[in-house]
Amino acid sequence: MTAPLLDVTDLERHFEGVRAVDGVSFQVQPHEVVSIIGPNGSGKTTTLNLVTGTFRAHGGTIVLDGARIDHASTVDIAEHGIARTFQNGRVFATLSVADNIEVGIHSQLHAHRPFRGLSHVFLLRWIPLLAELFVAIFGTPAARRERAEIDRTVDLEVDRFEARLGPRRDDPAYTLSYANRRRTEIARALALQPKLLVLDEPTAGMNQSETAEVLAQLLELKAAGQAILLVEHKLDLVMTVSDRVIVMDGGRIIAAGDPQTVRNDPAVIEAYLGRRRERPTPEGGEGSA
Ligand SMILES: Nc1ncnc2c1ncn2[C@@H]1O[C@H](COP(=O)(O)OP(=O)(O)OP(=O)(O)O)[C@@H](O)[C@H]1O
Ligand SMILES: [Mg+2]
Repeated sequence: MTAPLLDVTDLERHFEGVRAVDGVSFQVQPHEVVSIIGPNGSGKTTTLNLVTGTFRAHGGTIVLDGARIDHASTVDIAEHGIARTFQNGRVFATLSVADNIEVGIHSQLHAHRPFRGLSHVFLLRWIPLLAELFVAIFGTPAARRERAEIDRTVDLEVDRFEARLGPRRDDPAYTLSYANRRRTEIARALALQPKLLVLDEPTAGMNQSETAEVLAQLLELKAAGQAILLVEHKLDLVMTVSDRVIVMDGGRIIAAGDPQTVRNDPAVIEAYLGRRRERPTPEGGEGSA
């Protein structure tokens, strides 16, 4: 068996007494699409926030491709190979679509950011800053090659959403429709060519045909071997795209398995639909819930 791409063990995070994530363990294999579903407030976004370094875990471990990342910064985690989108959508309103996508690649630049390893060293931070300024003003052959590469990556990502983002490439994000802002955000995450793509409700606020479009794009990514960790409320989409589904309730995993098994799991039905009202059995006794 191959080593998991993402290995999460006994993850914990609380907020003033609320156990938002309470002993969560799961894995994502290379090329696997895993979805987390569950009622509002069940801990899905918090789990993603822990995996992507937005929040620090209070317990447990997170290993990506063999390396511990549970104490790494969001930037380091992005460099390790996780890119994400946010539940409410986050784009830079005044930047163009192309610039929003380019922002995602910034952490991966080498020629434009010489000596960037020193930016972690408190007293030597000025060296990479000055070097970056020098490259920005005077340029170098390596920086020009990298510039061309960045442009190619941005074009590739705009092309992925060709009909939608193509004509809007240079428009500021604040002029975009909600759905196009979300597409821009997904394109920005993909520009990082992440080992694991993390999506928090990518179709929230989208109508049926926009949702179907996102589903088609996710299936394309899946066919290309992209590993995805997805949080989504639209169960039809989840059941179509996922290899495995994890169900959370009250910060815990209450079921996990292939989509069909999970769909028929009584604990899942209960978490979503609530406890069934007790009915008298044919014998006249009380039926169980
Ligand atoms: N930053 C925070 N500060 C305080 N409490 C938080 C914070 N983030 C999450 N919580 C709490 O943790 C619990 C889990 O929230 P989370 O956002 O992870 O749920 P979710 O499953 O993503 O819900 P939804 O489907 O509504 O997005 C909730 O009780 C929530 O109020
Ligand atoms: Mg959420």
